[in-house]
Amino acid sequence: MFTIDKIRADFPILKRKVHGKPLVYFDNGATSQTPQVVIDAIVDYYSNYNANIHRGVHTLSQEATDKYEEARIKIQKHFNAKHSYEIILTSGTTESINIVSSGFSSILKKGDEVIVSALEHHSNIVPWQMMCEKTGAVLRVLPMDEDGSLRLDLFDQMLSNKTKLVFCNHVSNALGTINPIEAIIHRAHKFGAYVLVDGAQACPHIKPDVQELDVDFYVASAHKMCGPTGVGILYGKSELLEKLPPYQGGGEMIETVTFEKTTYAGLPHKFEAGTPNICGGIAFGVAIDYMNSIGFENIAKQENELLAYGTEKLLEIEGLKIYGTTRKASVISFNIEGIHPYDIGSILDKLGIAVRTGHHCAQPIMNFYKIPGTVRASFAFYNTKEEIDILVEAVKKAKMMLS
Ligand code: ALA
Repeated sequence: MFTIDKIRADFPILKRKVHGKPLVYFDNGATSQTPQVVIDAIVDYYSNYNANIHRGVHTLSQEATDKYEEARIKIQKHFNAKHSYEIILTSGTTESINIVSSGFSSILKKGDEVIVSALEHHSNIVPWQMMCEKTGAVLRVLPMDEDGSLRLDLFDQMLSNKTKLVFCNHVSNALGTINPIEAIIHRAHKFGAYVLVDGAQACPHIKPDVQELDVDFYVASAHKMCGPTGVGILYGKSELLEKLPPYQGGGEMIETVTFEKTTYAGLPHKFEAGTPNICGGIAFGVAIDYMNSIGFENIAKQENELLAYGTEKLLEIEGLKIYGTTRKASVISFNIEGIHPYDIGSILDKLGIAVRTGHHCAQPIMNFYKIPGTVRASFAFYNTKEEIDILVEAVKKAKMMLS
């Protein structure tokens, strides 16, 4: 049963005050909060079995290895990957994308084309630009519409047998748009192009099934899913991960090393050079268990109610404009006419409310709307309508002070 008071009690941080006011945390798009069970897992690791993995015969190392590999299997099951070795544990979405873009830098040729959606975070733009600079491949952009949706009607015309890769987020971080990734994957595959989906903003709200989606690469971060920072995943179909060269050289990613020649380890270790974020990986597994214990249907129901309520209440404020009005996750990106988003965010902070302001690492979207940035309130399942009321009153106050 979904009982909001019980859920909120799982998150110690929600009890704190900021500038003497109860914290209202609406910056979940940047980092979600951490339930006690995940905090306990971190403390348990460092208190009881902190050791390096895959390297020792001693008990602590074996315990840590077992827990880390158990976490990989939990993550595999959550995303429904066919094999656990298709889950590469990384430092987060950004590194996951860079592993793929760096790999394709030695595969793509001059004149190949890649398509990126107009709704991307910089981390799903810049690595591909760097790849194109190295290879001579051409980066093309699938345009967006005023309501924050993608111009899927133009996608077919952009695809050709030159198209090798397509990149799109599942949910836009800046606007919350839920993108039609099923259609994008299906159409790209008709032309033999591979698709990478950035799931960083989707996974807190949706449980993706990578086999059903038939997606080639799917990336996400633990810290948006009630887990710790500094850990994430790269899912890739095994045959594609096999084709990509390693991203970094180092310990544990090898099979044999001599000064003449090194052979590489198989998946997933080929992409996991060096000591990983062991504690983070284990805690990520616990976070996934926690979210599943709440249930993604319950999460979606609560967040959709918050989105509908917040949208209605905020739109009652004269001069307030919401960016992104199509089907979306629980994100409200807005501005008030004539007021800089940073100024609103600063006043909200003084009132205990955490939102993100600025371009949200998505400058092309801000350029599209010809604005410097927005105020972004992003809701999680542990937020409440009462907190939205506090936000709305605070925005009204900010407007009065700044007009
Ligand atoms: N990408 C994160 C955000 O959208 C940090 O806030």
